[in-house]
Amino acid sequence: MAIAAEPRRILLARGEVSDLDAYTASGGGRGLARAAEIGPQAVIAEVRASGLRGRGGAGFPTGIKWAGATASDASRRYLVCNAAEGEPGTYKDRWLIRNDPYQLLEGIAIAASAIGAERAFIGIKRSFRDEVIALERAAAEMAEAGLAGTVPVDLVEGPDDYLFGEEKGLLEVIEGRDPLPRLYPPYVQGLFETPDGAQQPAVVNNVETLSNIPHIIANGAEWFRSHGTDKSPGTMVFTVCGDVARESVVELEMGTPLSFLVHVTGGGPHPGRHIRMALPGVSNAPVPAGRLEVPLSYEGLEAVGSGLGSGGFIVFDDSACIARIGAAFSAFLFRGSCGQCPPCKLGTEALTVAFTRLARGGGSAGDLEDAAAWLIRVTDANRCGLGAGQRAFAEGLLREFGEDLVAHAGGAPCSSTRRVVVPVLERLEGDRFVYREPDPEAG
Ligand SMILES: Cc1cc2nc3c(=O)[nH]c(=O)nc-3n(C[C@H](O)[C@H](O)[C@H](O)COP(=O)(O)O)c2cc1C
Ligand code: SF4
Repeated sequence: MAIAAEPRRILLARGEVSDLDAYTASGGGRGLARAAEIGPQAVIAEVRASGLRGRGGAGFPTGIKWAGATASDASRRYLVCNAAEGEPGTYKDRWLIRNDPYQLLEGIAIAASAIGAERAFIGIKRSFRDEVIALERAAAEMAEAGLAGTVPVDLVEGPDDYLFGEEKGLLEVIEGRDPLPRLYPPYVQGLFETPDGAQQPAVVNNVETLSNIPHIIANGAEWFRSHGTDKSPGTMVFTVCGDVARESVVELEMGTPLSFLVHVTGGGPHPGRHIRMALPGVSNAPVPAGRLEVPLSYEGLEAVGSGLGSGGFIVFDDSACIARIGAAFSAFLFRGSCGQCPPCKLGTEALTVAFTRLARGGGSAGDLEDAAAWLIRVTDANRCGLGAGQRAFAEGLLREFGEDLVAHAGGAPCSSTRRVVVPVLERLEGDRFVYREPDPEAG
């Protein structure tokens, strides 16, 4: 794997864009103009050729998603921008919106007309006040300047629930209900089923995914592919938080080593401490300190048994108890699970209980066996990916830190007294994030 010599080539984060004049002066609007020139099919072909993969967590190829939507003969289609950003340790979507809401709105305009959408929606948390205001202001400026495209865009404000970010939960909220993931995916059951039961598919894309679109259309697929790796073209906006000197958000070329994010961007561990792991959110396996040279790409993280997630890395040093990390992360997922699928709700609870017993003392080898058994069942008949995330995280913790967990099975409480919090990021102040007030600690 070739490592980029210069990890800081920038596509998306070219500094704060203060107003529409500044945006157009830096080339904004060129993507929309070219999209109008070449037409929807050529736009989709360009996005396909670029190899752009969704930045919301799953890494699905964006051009293939769009082409699939246009292949259906549905009478109406919708575009939905996922701005819920609920993954712990991730702050990049809000950072992108704060820095430059225009490129996102231009991306939405291009995407909506490429897939033939009748309307577009931006699903965003009600609590993201600054970002809502930034988007509303930018949308008004772009409409006045004739740069908003042809498809109407509505902002839909939703709850803080973790499942608001899950695409099927998001569609439920847009239709006015709670974020309980429905059975069928958005390309089958989209929005506003007609009275005679006809489905109207929706394409759901993340903020960062759509922010890449104007640049790809303005500059071409080959230009985009000149950044990053063959299987993970482009850059990604990464978040680093937890036990590092500087918590931060940064755009890096795909293929940059994770150690660059942790040690250069993040400034490395606190004095006298050693890093033990970096966790790509709550739904991926931990990357132990010995593997921090892994390239930040979909294939790189997969090769070490983990995943890129939404590019947010939570770092823990040697002061954190492994069992308590297991308990706190599983408890977050247990609370987030809606309970429509019993194995998900029961499994996240059982794993929380097992890790908590190990951390507090009174745990035994039986708790580890229970945990291992639930890993297999927690994903059974699941409607959404939350249970799979629990499995990936807990399986990885048992695989990479099994010895630690076995050492906790002797019945004595862990010698570490440090609290472990799941970092749900509210805002960045200097070089520290403000975390949302944690729920009572489980570990
Ligand atoms: C439990 C859960 C929570 C999720 N939260 C988010 C989120 O906050 N933001 C997001 O963009 N995607 C989130 N996703 C992924 C979305 O369901 C979906 O895959 C994504 O928005 C698709 O966009 P993309 O193809 O551009 O990545 C979540 C998935 C799951 C299973
Ligand atoms: S998998 Fe879990 S979170 Fe997702 S719908 Fe089922 S119970 Fe709810």
